[in-house]
Amino acid sequence: MATTIRRAVIPAAGIGSRLLPLTKAIPKEMLPVGDKPVIEHTVCELVDSGITDITIVVSAGKGLIQDHFRPSPALAEQLRADGKDRFADAVDQVAELSHKGHITYLDQHGPYGNGTPVLNASHNFGEEPMLVLWPDDVFVSEVPRAQQLIRAYEATRCPVLALMPMDRSESHRYGVPVVKEDMGGGMLRITGLVEKPKPADAPSEFAAIGGYVVTPGVVDELREQTRRWYAAGDTTAEVYLTDAINAYASTRAAYGQVIQGRWFDTGNPASYLEAQFATALQHPEYGPRLRELARSMDTPNS
Ligand code: G1P
Repeated sequence: MATTIRRAVIPAAGIGSRLLPLTKAIPKEMLPVGDKPVIEHTVCELVDSGITDITIVVSAGKGLIQDHFRPSPALAEQLRADGKDRFADAVDQVAELSHKGHITYLDQHGPYGNGTPVLNASHNFGEEPMLVLWPDDVFVSEVPRAQQLIRAYEATRCPVLALMPMDRSESHRYGVPVVKEDMGGGMLRITGLVEKPKPADAPSEFAAIGGYVVTPGVVDELREQTRRWYAAGDTTAEVYLTDAINAYASTRAAYGQVIQGRWFDTGNPASYLEAQFATALQHPEYGPRLRELARSMDTPNS
């Protein structure tokens, strides 16, 4: 088994229905958070964590993602000729990110569900483990979430899920792990993963938050699920990464890593606004003005 992780998949074929009508014409991955589209936060996180091979799995209508990361030397040159070096640098930096992360794109094909893009991309990766990150999560953390997952993989060489502590009343929104043992340092040995249980049925008070180390054994489980999907001929069923991890963890070692940092699920309208607010407050140039604005809005008559 590989000693570390160099490859990553970003499933970006979803519709973003929770954010409609914002996402009617704009892919949810391209909505801005701070000074970049949300998917660029994920790509930055991966490149900063040493990932050198990123596959973004897309569907029709997601061309803006490719346009964003595509190098634009003519635009950069024009900006420099006009004395707008700062903007030219910004354009070049996005292209550089694409180059460092060696981004390639794949059309999603197969059953509905978040397991399908992972299976699609796995054909590029052979027997290598891969990181799977949802494109609409933003983390504000000292150590990037991807790096925290890679370290957990390096220590175990097993599948790993990103986890956060969860209030039991929220369990119907998340995959919830069955925890067997606390290994220390935020690492938990898990023996299962239940998708969106009712609070009374939640096996623990942790939520899976859209970051996974997927090993070839988990890909085999996805392949098996997809085979069953075709055999059953039920086109309304979905192929879920949760089910594949659950099947794997029931017989083999798998872990959860509690992630240090603040998590924003920007696919959810309230959390999207919070992510805007939190990243704006952290902005080196505009942050102080926004803090001042927030204070004055809080006490309008002062
Ligand atoms: C997916 C996963 C779920 C996980 C969640 C985190 O659900 O299936 O296990 O907890 O992402 O964001 P979704 O939010 O796509 O319904």
